[in-house]
Amino acid sequence: MEILLHEHEVLASTNEYALDLAKAGCPEGTLVLAHRQTGGHGRMRRVWSSPVGGLWFSLVLRPKIRPQVIAQVTLLAGVAVTQALREIYLTDDIYIKWPNDILIHNKKVCGILAEMSLDEFQKVEYVIMGIGINVNIDKNEIPKNIKHQVQSLKDEYGIRIDEKEVLVKVIEILSRLYMQWQEVGIEPVLKKWCDLNCTLGKHVKVKDNDQVIYEGQALSIDEAGALVIRRDDGTIQKFNFGEISIRE
Ligand code: BTN
Repeated sequence: MEILLHEHEVLASTNEYALDLAKAGCPEGTLVLAHRQTGGHGRMRRVWSSPVGGLWFSLVLRPKIRPQVIAQVTLLAGVAVTQALREIYLTDDIYIKWPNDILIHNKKVCGILAEMSLDEFQKVEYVIMGIGINVNIDKNEIPKNIKHQVQSLKDEYGIRIDEKEVLVKVIEILSRLYMQWQEVGIEPVLKKWCDLNCTLGKHVKVKDNDQVIYEGQALSIDEAGALVIRRDDGTIQKFNFGEISIRE
């Protein structure tokens, strides 16, 4: 994939900026990078703190897929970031928590927000793949209320790796997986996701809008990226939305 970099000192949100470019017809591979964001957001429109030192970017993709399997693109990004970080920091301690959090010792180092638009024929027109990685953020820059859940790679490993170096590695792996996905389907990515996740086999609670709506053992993920959960009474249900908490 050819990458077309739009680099900014500061933006409200790279996802919003990329969304405008995509609407205006920019090509796949357009990448919006900001050194800091003033209105960064995560899933459920949560505030995403984005000071200097983090890697905040959004990639415009135009995959040829059915909208029903859009969650696959998030799985793919999760695998790419996890592989890249494991290679750079020479560790096996980085895991994916379904659907889109990358954790080190149960603390979040990266969040992924995929937003898509459908055309008039209900075909996927574009996907904005927003990725935020706490690369060189300082402890005291993490908001107090989330300090216990968030970590930066610099603080975890005691080394500073240039954010651009991390970006290059993530993009290199992401584009390779993306091409493979478009050619042969999601199978190879699913296999990698299963090797890199810390969710399957665990007892999990599914939350929707902060309410627990289901609880049980995480068995697998299906082709579309939905999490399959078995309750103690044997009932099995799939979830392709919401968030989970994991009981260790
Ligand atoms: C989440 O875990 O809720 C997803 C967080 C995604 C944050 C990234 S940072 C770059 C891009 N721009 C945004 O406003 N959000 C995403």
